[in-house]
Amino acid sequence: MPHDNTIAVILAAGKGTRMHSSKPKVLQTLLGEGMLQYVAATAGTVAGSVLTVIGYGAEQVRAAYPELAEGFVEQLAQKGTGHALQAAWDRVRQSGATHCLVLNGDAPLVQPEDLEELVGTAHEGADIVFLTTTLPDAGAFGRVLRGSAGNVTGIVEAKDFNPAIHGADTGEVNTGLFCLSVGAVEAALFSLTSANRAGEYYITDLVGLGVQAGLKVHALKREDAPDLLGVNSPLELARAEERLRAGQTERLLASGVLLHQHEQIVVGPRAAIDPGAELTGPCRILGATTIGQGATIGAFCQITNCVIDAGATVREFCHLEDAHVCAGAVAGPYSRLRPGADVGENARVGNFVEMKKASLGKGAKASHLTYLGDTAVGAGANIGAGTITCNYDGVHKHQTNIGAGAFIGSNTALVAPVQVGENALVAAGSVITKTVPDGALAVARARQTNLEGRGKKS
Ligand code: UD1
Ligand code: CA
Repeated sequence: MPHDNTIAVILAAGKGTRMHSSKPKVLQTLLGEGMLQYVAATAGTVAGSVLTVIGYGAEQVRAAYPELAEGFVEQLAQKGTGHALQAAWDRVRQSGATHCLVLNGDAPLVQPEDLEELVGTAHEGADIVFLTTTLPDAGAFGRVLRGSAGNVTGIVEAKDFNPAIHGADTGEVNTGLFCLSVGAVEAALFSLTSANRAGEYYITDLVGLGVQAGLKVHALKREDAPDLLGVNSPLELARAEERLRAGQTERLLASGVLLHQHEQIVVGPRAAIDPGAELTGPCRILGATTIGQGATIGAFCQITNCVIDAGATVREFCHLEDAHVCAGAVAGPYSRLRPGADVGENARVGNFVEMKKASLGKGAKASHLTYLGDTAVGAGANIGAGTITCNYDGVHKHQTNIGAGAFIGSNTALVAPVQVGENALVAAGSVITKTVPDGALAVARARQTNLEGRGKKS
């Protein structure tokens, strides 16, 4: 249960210079989901409300996360993590929360348990609690300083760390996760200075200032917990994504999902796959996709926001988005199902067939080289190879309806809006512009003429 007296502040205004990308860092994705989505979801499980400080690329971030709209606060110039918290402080005060949980927007692997411990310690009476971990190489992370009795005395950023002044590097680093007593830290927060090599206002200086001011400051140490740390480079992003991916497939295997070449299977955090489904890598199952028991997904598929019913088959090399494949249906190999594609029970959509806002009724087939756009195909109909629905006249999209049991001959163009009746037959090579009544045979092509005399004289 979230703590109503705790507000979370996610610091996400930085550019992420070390990513070498013009995209704000928190928009970088892991398993198809933006980084900020992970942090906000975790924060929301622990804190009663969530604020997100944005700055660099603020408009892009707002557009990507409309669900976070109410909690956005802008930091107009990015003058450091302490400055970012200052930018949110009015909103923190207005919320009436007694405690403020601070997270870095670039730490997508942090788990609710990590935050619970922090909040729990703060609620027991600490004014400043933060999480630390130890690394074999502390690299660019902030170093935690302790006194001779093991008590925390401060955090020094890597750029400013000097063993001659600060003592030997112990490898204990700041994770960037803090829980602060709103009343107790305010004075220290607004007395931060930028007297450091980067010329920034560091949130980490709160620790030293707090100790000097006699506040109760606690550091909770986790041994070797790299998942708590921020992602700063493409290499760190790739490693974080791989840890998430491996965790996902391990959980799926443990729950009873069959995975072949599981090291090459990507399953996003919102996807739900039932035990008894069978997937072969490499493949990517993204967004809010659901896959039912006994469904099989072949190698080299990408499936986003789809419903794959129990017992459906998606064969190799399919690209599916916002589509539905029913029980007993077979898609692929090489099918492209775009938004609104619906493949009915026991229907078949084959190679190089594209569907968009189109349904195939029960047992209907479109097996080869076809485009079905804005189309409803009735049960048991057969769509011949090379059939194209001409759904777009350059201005508007139009609907095609094909009745149950109809047979569309190969290489037919159906110029929408148009209806083909039940059990009707369209001759191969036709261009259909008018309604074909139920049970009728439509032929709409030039007759073949054979002219003599082309051959060589014998
Ligand atoms: C920060 C910590 C460091 C810690 C590390 C853990 C500081 C000064 N340093 O370093 O001690 O070991 O995280 O991963 O806090 N941000 C803003 N506004 C700004 C600057 C940054 O919102 O003006 C945001 C960034 O978007 C990012 C987060 O704050 O999400 C952390 O900033 P970043 O520059 O990544 O800090 P680190 O150098 O990684
Ligand atoms: Ca960082």
